[in-house]
Amino acid sequence: MGIEWYDRIARRNGGYKGRAIFNVIGRSAEEVFEVRLKELLPGCEWVLDAGCGHGEFTLKMAPHTGHITGFDNSAEMIAIAQKLMNASDVHNIEFVYATTKTELPFADGQFDLIYDRRGPTSIIEHSRILRAGGIIIGIHNDVSKVKERLSSSAYTDVEFEEYHDAVYEFPIEVEFSKFLADTPGNPDYTQPAYRALLEQKIQEHTTDGKLTIREHRYIWKAMKR
Ligand SMILES: C[S@@+](CC[C@H](N)C(=O)[O-])C[C@H]1O[C@@H](n2cnc3c(N)ncnc32)[C@H](O)[C@@H]1O
Repeated sequence: MGIEWYDRIARRNGGYKGRAIFNVIGRSAEEVFEVRLKELLPGCEWVLDAGCGHGEFTLKMAPHTGHITGFDNSAEMIAIAQKLMNASDVHNIEFVYATTKTELPFADGQFDLIYDRRGPTSIIEHSRILRAGGIIIGIHNDVSKVKERLSSSAYTDVEFEEYHDAVYEFPIEVEFSKFLADTPGNPDYTQPAYRALLEQKIQEHTTDGKLTIREHRYIWKAMKR
């Protein structure tokens, strides 16, 4: 996804925040991921949040671990994250503007744990910054590249779990259109110019009079050799 899309969402939504109101029915993989992560964090001193966005989740995880560095290649996201951090009483985190497309500004073996919550899966290629025995864990809806990248000899104990138990139910069409508009890469479905496309999406996602989207995610994990 282009940096521009995330910069635009950061300006429009005040971060990587969805605006849509909807009910989550069933077990969400996002919750499962958070529980898994919270089990791993207490044993770690140095943690990396890859593609931390506006930092809200980083701040939420901070009390559970030693120190978290969040990095992102959207300057707008990092600016919001730094503001949120300065307004909080959390002192064990920092936010850095960086991209996985170039060398990352971290030392070899610096981190005990790297987590990637729908951030750049290319972080997997930066295995040098994870210590031997360190864990990398992520959640994504497309793991084709993740599988390919984790097949590198740098990793062992690779795990994938697929989740599609949860359904997002939208009370009204406008909430559905906001959800689509806030999905990475999508156009702004709330605008009249996209009405015809929205109608099509509404038809595809309506069953028994209910407007729903099924959550489909993979939680993946590996250990650095
Ligand atoms: C879907 S958002 C998730 C944000 C955050 N992890 C969360 O859970 O709220 C993906 C984030 O990854 C960042 N990102 C995408 N590609 C990146 C890259 N190559 N290097 C660094 N950050 C990247 C985007 O700017 C965006 O903030």
